[in-house]
Amino acid sequence: MLQDNHATEIAQILERYPQASKRAAVMPLLFLAQREVGFISRDAINEIAGLLDLDPTDVGSLIGYYTLFYDKPGGKYRIQICTDLPCALRGAEKFSHEVCEMLNIQVGETTEDGFFTLEEVMCLAACDRAPLFQVQGKGGIQYHENMTLESTTAFIESIREQDANE
Ligand code: FES
Repeated sequence: MLQDNHATEIAQILERYPQASKRAAVMPLLFLAQREVGFISRDAINEIAGLLDLDPTDVGSLIGYYTLFYDKPGGKYRIQICTDLPCALRGAEKFSHEVCEMLNIQVGETTEDGFFTLEEVMCLAACDRAPLFQVQGKGGIQYHENMTLESTTAFIESIREQDANE
């Protein structure tokens, strides 16, 4: 339960919003829930909905809408390749397919070593620099633009090396 582990932080978040607008606290509370275990569980959705007098379905729909929220566990790093139309016209779908092959997974899956989950997402606002992806993991969110299979392979290797040395 979020409240068992983060009562003070939850109270601080709720204090920032007037009672009449407390539903606006949904985003920081979702962020808090995800920070805890890397994704937002059904229990956390219900708890947040209860705290804010919202319907759990409405809270859950936010997770589906925002690419930075997850409702399932994933790898240490989430690679999100934009395959929206402008990027697709610059070869993003082929690129995504090649990266999947290189990682030996399908879109939405996680590598056997638990390091990488690959997802296809909508516009990341860098349409002229496709193929591109954002990576979420240690160190926050990073953009990698004008990527090739070679540069992506080098990036993957560097992450594995870096992690092994920590
Ligand atoms: S369509 Fe891919 S970044 Fe905009």
